[in-house]
Amino acid sequence: MSNSLIDHVVELGRRIADLERRNRNRRRTGVVTEVDHAKGLARVKFSEKPKPYLSPWMPWLEIAAGGTSTHIPPTVGEQVDVVSESGELTDGIIDFSTHSDQNPRPHDGSEVVIKHGNVRIEIADDKVTIKGDLKVEGKVDIEGDHVKHNGHRIDDHHKHTDVEPGSGLSGVPE
Ligand SMILES: [Fe+2]
Repeated sequence: MSNSLIDHVVELGRRIADLERRNRNRRRTGVVTEVDHAKGLARVKFSEKPKPYLSPWMPWLEIAAGGTSTHIPPTVGEQVDVVSESGELTDGIIDFSTHSDQNPRPHDGSEVVIKHGNVRIEIADDKVTIKGDLKVEGKVDIEGDHVKHNGHRIDDHHKHTDVEPGSGLSGVPE
């Protein structure tokens, strides 16, 4: 083969290797190792052979980032997909995550569940259950049949036990 033909083949081999590298980088699965909440950036480790590769700082996708806006930062140890249209990880964005052995699904039913630390919000077809302390900054209007505290009614129809008209304190609500 002439030198120019050899050069051409070498050049083609180099370009194919580069295409293959970019193709591999278009979507990869890794684990979050660091999160900068203020900047909205995180780093992801890919278990590459022969040695793992740590990504540059990258933004993560949010469900919404306009008039409706969310802040759902990834957590260290979370398994995520990183996507890059160009195939260069320097252009990468952290996509949605998939559960792993370290971070299993928080629920096994059809209800919608959002879990964060020890707080859990569960949305069933006819009920929302919040596990955790609740703070409301604003007025609260409750419309419904009753309001109970530890099984006792405290709403606008509640009655008291052990009470006769007079100056004494009444018993606990029914
Ligand atoms: Fe009362």
